[in-house]
Parts: sequence; C-alpha cells; structure tokens
Amino acid sequence: MTTALITGASSGIGSVYARRLAARGHDLVLVARATERLNALATELCQSHGVAIEVITADLIDGAQLEPVLQRLRSAPPIDILVNNAGAGLIGDFAAADPMEMHKLLQLNVLAPTLLASAVIGGMVERGSGSIINIASVLALLPEYAHGIYAATKSYVLTLSQSLAAEVASKGVYVQAVLPAATRTEIYERAGGDISKVPDVMEVDDLVDAALVGFDRKELVTIPPVPDVAAWEAFEQARGVLASGFSNSTPAARYRS
Ligand SMILES: NC(=O)c1ccc[n+]([C@@H]2O[C@H](COP(=O)([O-])OP(=O)(O)OC[C@H]3O[C@@H](n4cnc5c(N)ncnc54)[C@H](OP(=O)(O)O)[C@@H]3O)[C@@H](O)[C@H]2O)c1
Repeated sequence: MTTALITGASSGIGSVYARRLAARGHDLVLVARATERLNALATELCQSHGVAIEVITADLIDGAQLEPVLQRLRSAPPIDILVNNAGAGLIGDFAAADPMEMHKLLQLNVLAPTLLASAVIGGMVERGSGSIINIASVLALLPEYAHGIYAATKSYVLTLSQSLAAEVASKGVYVQAVLPAATRTEIYERAGGDISKVPDVMEVDDLVDAALVGFDRKELVTIPPVPDVAAWEAFEQARGVLASGFSNSTPAARYRS
C-alpha cells in the first residue's frame, strides 16, 4: 500500500485525483483550507475504497500552516506520490495588480510546490522510488495569452519539473508536469472570472483521467488537450536545436557588427 499526498484536494482537479488514486488503492493525505469538504471526501473515499485517509487543513500561503505539511512529507509512512496541485488564478493586467495579491499568488503557485517537493524528494531518492505530479498549465507555453503573473507562475512549475526530472530520473524518482488547458473547476469564479465565457472547456474528470494515462506512461510533460503528440515532440526538438547554439564563447556574428 502506498500513500499519496494531494494539495488542493477539496475541489476541482485535486478532488478528482483523490478519487482516482483512492480507487487505485493508495492511502491518501488530503490538504487544503476547507476542512469540511476534505472530511466529507475522506469519509466517502474511506467507505468506498477502504483506504486510510489523513486530512491536513492548511493555508499553504501561511508558513506556519505549511510546516505540518512539510513535516508529513518528511515522516512515515512515506509519501510515494506528491500531487502539487493547489493553485489559484489572478485575473487582470500586471500594471494594475495589487502587489500583495501577486505576493500571495507567488507563495501559493511557486513557493509552496517548491518547498513541498523539496521536503519529499530526499526520502524518495533514498528509497529509489516515488513520483511528483506538478500541475502547471498550457499557459506556461502561451504566456502572451494571459496578462499578469499567472502564466509566469506556471512556467516556473514546468521548468522546475523538467529540471527536477533531469536530476532525479536516474535515481528512480518520476516527475510529471501536467499542463491542463481550460478545465471546468472553481478556479475561474474564485478569481472573479466567469467560466461560461471561456471556450473549449474540458470536464475535470476527463482531464485527470488523461493526465493519469500520461502518468502511467511515465511522460515528463502531459498536455491532455493536444491531439497529436508530434506537436510536442517537434517543440522539444526545436528547443534542442536552439540549445545547441548555447555553447559558444563568443557572441553570434549578428551581434558583432
Ligand atoms: N481549471 C483550469 O482551467 C486550470 C487550467 C490550468 C491549470 N490549472 C491548475 O490546476 C490546479 C487546480 O486548480 P483547479 O482548477 O482544480 O481549481 P479549484 O477548483 O479552484 O481548486 C483549487 C484547489 O486549491 C486549493 N487552494 C487554493 N488556495 C489555497 C491555499 N491558500 N492553501 C491551500 N490550498 C489552497 C483549494 O482548496 P481550499 O479553498 O479548500 O483551500 C482547492 O482545493 C491549480 O494549480 C491551477 O492553477 C487549472
């Protein structure tokens, strides 16, 4: 029996991960602020799947509340799967954004998943096994589409995942970045948006089921809506071509005129 810790398990993508991982027989640690929702989900999944479930109420923006989650990730029984899912949006232009709101978004979308991964990774490397699922966004690859810092927070999550995977894959630890596009959850309303104005919205069950197919295939990057994986492979190949030009001790000729 293995244990998965899921942040943001009280609604949306995180709650579907909780359902699917419980159905696969994993014990769970559910983390979010809404204790009642977490307890209701825990009771339901305990009864339907017979798994053990711990609930940790924590506002991941608050260092003191983050600490018990970090402690749980470092302690026994070990966490075999970390789903770094809790996150939020911030609608509006960068120039008009409240710096405190940006600070909070950076704490939730960037700092918290980084510290959570950091707390769990040592044990995983020691055991030679474990998985970290980081929920990024297609906006990581399409920053021009969204004003403000949300896309940049998700680019960070993608970059961290790629860098971490390069570091720990040979040590038996699997890292997956999931890049959802528009998915029907509470995130839009929470940020003051309106999901009915968003085109081509994917149902959250479909999103998570697809992401778990990518997980089972050990994909590093899973983008559920993209019809042809060749598009991603071409993107990666182009990145490799670009990177082959990075190892030069002199600037390119076009900058030496
Ligand atoms: N839906 C989309 O279109 C979409 C697209 C791309 C990426 N994503 C990403 O998917 C992830 C999940 O979002 P979702 O779409 O499922 O939205 P959601 O339904 O709003 O869920 C967000 C989850 O994060 C938790 N959370 C929010 N602030 C928190 C805080 N300060 N401390 C602890 N937990 C907090 C919420 O629980 P509590 O309120 O109980 O704390 C909730 O469980 C996010 O990282 C989001 O950026 C979503």
